[in-house]
Amino acid sequence: MSAAHIEVRGVSKVFGTSVVALQDINLEIPRGQFVCLLGPSGCGKSTLLNAIAGFSPPTGGSIVADGKPVTAPGPERGMVFQEYALFPWMTVADNVAFGLEIKGLPKEQIAATVDQLLKTLSLQDFRQRFPKDLSGGMRQRVAIARVLALDSPIMLMDEPFGALDALTRRDLQDELLRIWDEQKKTIIFVTHSIEEAIYLADRIVVMTYRPGTVKRDILVDLPRLRDPSSPEFNALKRELGQLVMEEQQRHHHDELRAAAVD
Ligand SMILES: Nc1ncnc2c1ncn2[C@@H]1O[C@H](COP(=O)(O)OP(=O)(O)O)[C@@H](O)[C@H]1O
Ligand SMILES: [Mg+2]
Repeated sequence: MSAAHIEVRGVSKVFGTSVVALQDINLEIPRGQFVCLLGPSGCGKSTLLNAIAGFSPPTGGSIVADGKPVTAPGPERGMVFQEYALFPWMTVADNVAFGLEIKGLPKEQIAATVDQLLKTLSLQDFRQRFPKDLSGGMRQRVAIARVLALDSPIMLMDEPFGALDALTRRDLQDELLRIWDEQKKTIIFVTHSIEEAIYLADRIVVMTYRPGTVKRDILVDLPRLRDPSSPEFNALKRELGQLVMEEQQRHHHDELRAAAVD
């Protein structure tokens, strides 16, 4: 048995007959690691995350999470999407409580957990609001609180801060780091932002564009909170910038070739 918390073994994903979105991806992710999947649009980041989440099984290879083969979504893997998947007809508090009610926990326990989570994400003053009356950043806080409510040891996040302005984004990144540090979760976080990946991750997995493979697997050994203006940060940013740009150009060439065929 492997000690990895999440194990991706030779995973491939082919859409239809010819779109090879993923090819032979192998990753061993230890418990508690904060991993960013980085790469340009279309390189298979969401496809890989959805396979790990159990939403869309790979066409080849296998995935083991928390000691169990992944065949479907499960409570040990919580997912946060870019588009806030909140129930619009429920208040903030009810959205956070939802998963706990499904579990059938006693009312007092649910109330205590919800209070705690609202406090953790600075949402106390918003508990009776509805999602439509919240800013994007606040909605994303609710989405995170909801996943934390389920107490999943693994959090899967697909560009969760992609739609937020820079300041709100930094706020939420810092909160996520604090929660991760306190709760020792294993996090796989998808982003196409190089700076976001360096700011957050213990480890950055750079993906290639079609077929999606692992291009580079880098450990980021900088103390937190990280300073984006430091020389070390910028050296890594240049290195990753080069890698991502190569893949972006492949994407671009692909598009030109496709256009020439039309
Ligand atoms: N349901 C689907 N059917 C066909 N092709 C898909 C589907 N989902 C994704 N793809 C293709 O797979 C590739 C990877 O997509 P995706 O995982 O969404 O990339 P990323 O998240 O890195 O932007 C892209 O070329 C995309 O067009
Ligand atoms: Mg995506």
